[in-house]
Amino acid sequence: MTEEFDLVVIGAGPGGYVAAIRAAQLGMKVACVEKEKSLGGTCLNVGCIPSKALLDSSELFQMSQQEFESHGIKVNAMLDLDRMMKRKVEIVKSLTMGIQGLFKKNKVSSFMGLGSVKSADTVSIIDSQGKETLLKTKKILLATGSVPVSIPAFPIDEKRIVSSTGALSFPEVPGHLVVIGGGVIGLELGSVWHRLGAKVTVIEFLDRLLPGMDRDCSKLMLQILKKEGIEIHLQTKVESVSYVDDCSLKVQATGKSTNLEIDCDTVLVAVGRRPFSEGLGLQEAGIEKDERGFVKVDSHFQTNVNGIYAIGDLIEGPMLAHKAEEDGVACVEGMAGMAVHHDYSRVPSVVYTHPEVAGVGLTEEEALEKGFEIKTAKFPFQATGRARALGETRGFVKVIAEKKKDEILGVHMIGPRVSELIAEAVLAMEYRASAEDIARTCHAHPTLSEAFREAALAVDSRAIHM
Ligand code: NAI
Repeated sequence: MTEEFDLVVIGAGPGGYVAAIRAAQLGMKVACVEKEKSLGGTCLNVGCIPSKALLDSSELFQMSQQEFESHGIKVNAMLDLDRMMKRKVEIVKSLTMGIQGLFKKNKVSSFMGLGSVKSADTVSIIDSQGKETLLKTKKILLATGSVPVSIPAFPIDEKRIVSSTGALSFPEVPGHLVVIGGGVIGLELGSVWHRLGAKVTVIEFLDRLLPGMDRDCSKLMLQILKKEGIEIHLQTKVESVSYVDDCSLKVQATGKSTNLEIDCDTVLVAVGRRPFSEGLGLQEAGIEKDERGFVKVDSHFQTNVNGIYAIGDLIEGPMLAHKAEEDGVACVEGMAGMAVHHDYSRVPSVVYTHPEVAGVGLTEEEALEKGFEIKTAKFPFQATGRARALGETRGFVKVIAEKKKDEILGVHMIGPRVSELIAEAVLAMEYRASAEDIARTCHAHPTLSEAFREAALAVDSRAIHM
C-alpha cells in the first residue's frame, strides 16, 4: 500500500483529467491513473485533436488547389504527408505534456498503468513491467471512455482494415478508401483522405448521413460531399470485408435493390463506439451495467456501489469529450457537497467537415415527436457579407422555437466555422432565450454570427437580408 487519497480517477481522458483537476481545486487529495503512455485519452491522442490537425491541414491543401486562384493567389502546392503527420504528432505531444503540467500545478498525482477496482476503497495499478501498486482511497471515479465497435465480418487490424486510430496515421494516401458508416468519424476522416487525393466511397446503413444531426443539415451535407466527388451509398449495409491479397480488399454490401462488390485497398470501420469497461474489476465489485454495456449511475454519477462513480462515454448520454468534461466537473462538485448540474439537452454536437455542421437542442423531428408546436426558420450564409468575403457561402442557420412562448428549442447550422458559432446558441438556450432575444441582440457586422440573428428574425418573418 502506498499513499492514501480522497479520490482516485481511473482514466486521464477529457472526463478524467478535468475531474481530477477540479477535485484538486476543491481541496481533495487526488490521483489519476492512465494505462496509455501519455495523458489525454482518445480525444488528445487518437481522436479529436489529431483528426482536427489533419482536417485543418488537408483543408488548406485542398483550398490551395481549388480556391486560392479565385482570391488571386497562384501556388503550385505539393503534398508532404510526412511533414503533415509530424505536425499532427507535435500538436498532440504539446497538449498531452500540457496536462502533465496542469497536474503538477494542481498537485494531482499521476500513475501510469492499468487501473482497476480492487474494492470500494482500493485501486490496483499494474504497470508496463507487470508490477502492482495499490492505492487506498475514499472515492473512485471511473472515466475509462470508449473504444471503436468492431464487427466480426470486418475485423480491424489497423493495417488495411482500420478504425479511426489507423486512419489518422496512414503512411501514404490510400488509392481507394471505403468508409463503413456515414456518421461523424466516417465523414471527418473520409474528407481528410479525399482532400489528399484518395478515392473515397462511404457506405451508410440508414437513409441519411449523420443520423444524430438535423435532417436538413444531413441533406445538404450529402449534396456537398457528392458534388466534391465522394461516392455515397445510403440504405446499404456492409456484410463483409475480405483480403484478396496483401494490398487489396473486397467489400460486399447489400443495398435496397442492389448488391455491391467494391474493390479497394483500405477500409475504415466507423460504425460507432462502445463503452470501455473490461478488465476494470467492475463485475467483481458488483457494479451494474445496462444491456448496452453502459455503467448505470444515479443523478450524482454514483454507481450502485457506494463511493464508486462513473462519467463520460462509460455512462449514458452523448459520447463527446465536452460532455465527459461536464460530467467530471459536476460529479466531483457533488462529492464536495455542491449542486450537481448537468443537462444533456444543452450539449452541442459538431462535425468538422467542410463546411462544418453543428447543433444544439432538439432537431425539428425531435421537437415534433415530443409534441411541441414549433416555428422554424433558416437563414442562408449566402446572404451575409462575411461569408461572401470568405468565399464560403454554402449552408444556413436554422432556428427552432416554441410557437407561443418563442423559446428556442434547437439551433442547427451547416456552414463556415459553425463549430464556433454554435457556442452563442448554447449560451442562449442555457439562459432559455427566445428567438426575439437573439433578434434584439446587436451582432457585429460583417460577421458570420449575423446569420444566427437573421435566422432568429426570420422566425418572426422579419429577416432583413432575405
Ligand atoms: P456514429 O454513430 O456517428 O456513426 C456510425 C454510422 O455507421 C451510423 O450512421 C450507422 O448507421 C452506420 N452503420 C453501422 N453499421 C453499418 C454497416 N454494417 N454498414 C453500413 N453502415 C453502418 O459513429 P462514429 O462515426 O463511429 O463515431 C463514434 C462516436 O464518436 C460518436 O458517438 C461520435 O459522436 C463520437 N465522435 C465525435 C466527434 C465530434 O464530436 N466531432 C468526432 C469523432 C467521433
